Amino acid sequence: MSHHEISRRRTFAIIAHPDAGKTTLTEKLLLYGGVIQLAGAVKAKRGRANAVSDWMEMERERGISITTSVLQFPYRGLQMNLLDTPGHADFSEDTYRTLHAVDGAVMLLDCAKGVESQTRKLFRVCRQRSIPIFTFVNKMDRPGRDAFELIGEVESVLGIGVYPITWPVFRSGVFRGVYHRMARRVYLFDADHANSSSTTGAERPPVEVTGIDDPMLREALDDAGYDRLRSEADLLDAAGDGFDRERFEAGELSPMFFGSAVNNFGLEAFLETFSELMPPPRPRDTDQGPVEPTRDEFSGFVFKIQANMDKAHRDRVAFVRICSGRMVRGMKAHHVRTGKDVRLANPTQFLARDRNVVDESWAGDVVGIHDPGNLEIGDTLTGGSRFVYEGIPSFAPEHFRRLALVDPMRRKQFATGLEQLAQEGTVQLYRPPAGRAGDLVLGALGQLQFEVVRYRLESEYSVQVRVEPVPYQLARWVSRADGKPLDLDALHDAVEGMVVLDVRDRPVVLFDREWALRTAERLHPEYRFAETATGV
Ligand code: G4P
Repeated sequence: MSHHEISRRRTFAIIAHPDAGKTTLTEKLLLYGGVIQLAGAVKAKRGRANAVSDWMEMERERGISITTSVLQFPYRGLQMNLLDTPGHADFSEDTYRTLHAVDGAVMLLDCAKGVESQTRKLFRVCRQRSIPIFTFVNKMDRPGRDAFELIGEVESVLGIGVYPITWPVFRSGVFRGVYHRMARRVYLFDADHANSSSTTGAERPPVEVTGIDDPMLREALDDAGYDRLRSEADLLDAAGDGFDRERFEAGELSPMFFGSAVNNFGLEAFLETFSELMPPPRPRDTDQGPVEPTRDEFSGFVFKIQANMDKAHRDRVAFVRICSGRMVRGMKAHHVRTGKDVRLANPTQFLARDRNVVDESWAGDVVGIHDPGNLEIGDTLTGGSRFVYEGIPSFAPEHFRRLALVDPMRRKQFATGLEQLAQEGTVQLYRPPAGRAGDLVLGALGQLQFEVVRYRLESEYSVQVRVEPVPYQLARWVSRADGKPLDLDALHDAVEGMVVLDVRDRPVVLFDREWALRTAERLHPEYRFAETATGV
């Protein structure tokens, strides 16, 4: 039973540069999964009438799109868990952490823009974990780059092999369908459908499916379109070997698909193959070797903490990715870092605005656990064992600020709020080591994170602050190359930068220019200056 439940889980995220169509594709996958009702539910051009997208819009306006929700939908007997991530690039740190909880990703590209800056960063995180990555080239209804050129760009810029599984088909230069190379089938779209305002993407459009040798194709695509399809299909077949599943599962080869999310074009062909190729949960590394998802004992790790998700509840929720076994409502779990037991009273699933208490969940699922403040990002929970899952890396921030308290009487609330937000990972917080004077410095990957801190301090802790500039530009976690304990005073004397500690008491140096870092690296090989920090 457990094996069956676990083997039908598919846990993934969509990675994309803003505006490539992630929200649209997410909605469409829900549509195809039968979660969203058809006609009119998805969106009219302006007013997004649907609960899921409404909520997304609201989060976007607040600028705090950091609530992870797991969009679950059934598809052909599988249980799809799509982990939704913040759309805005400034919240990428949150997305990085979420990418640690998935078993695969869909990389979404705009056909006219190709690989963009945010795509590159998110891709890098997936690549570090060697998870399988699908590529979906979106907005094919608009003029874009040549498909061969896009393949070349993904291969050269991202350094991953590409295997096109579907291929765009045109009539007089207009996108008319996709050719599925493995199935040797052509999916033809109803061209009128795209322009019909009454049905903007709210229904599954009629699709004609036929074999590539069907004579009617020449008529449907006209001579030029048909000849182009045949010659490109031959070229693709001649160019490469078959699809190498092993390389795909190792994250070295990306199957590519073409389509238009807003028009529902190409989604069927994508989803069908996605459901065949996307692997179920696989073993995860711990300090005591890999743990199989089908192990009977429950285990998982916290990848995200969110306090005050709902002001009415004033709660704190830790999101746990289950990596093995089954989590049952009310069970006791072992919190490895503290050695204490935690009761999982009301494991909750979050689907956009809705929350549901779940009686049982399986490896591959993500559940929210109500937590009074014991859990931290990266913590492992088990059924009793003491192993620890590999840590979730923190990334060196690129922006730095200091907060000035407007009302000095609120100092205590200020400290509590800030500590809380830093633990959630909303920002990184640096303080001077004991005995040294200095400001508390905030670090972030995106400027908007400071705005979120200011907004949340005010609305949740009634603390007003001014956000002020500081001269730092780079942060590096420091350790000794020989692995010995670090002497903070010696480090302070050695480098031209500010020595501070992060929320986990790890030493960090803040530099005000690249040159100071380079000099420190050159003159002091006894230290390691790291761009990421992992674990406790
Ligand atoms: P994001 O979450 O990645 O930021 O992208 P989102 O889905 O919000 O899409 C960004 C814009 O691209 C939206 O237009 C959306 O309608 C459009 N879009 C998505 N998929 C396609 C597609 O396949 N073809 C075309 N032509 N456009 C697509 P918008 O004008 O910003 O918003 P809206 O007024 O349409 O809602």
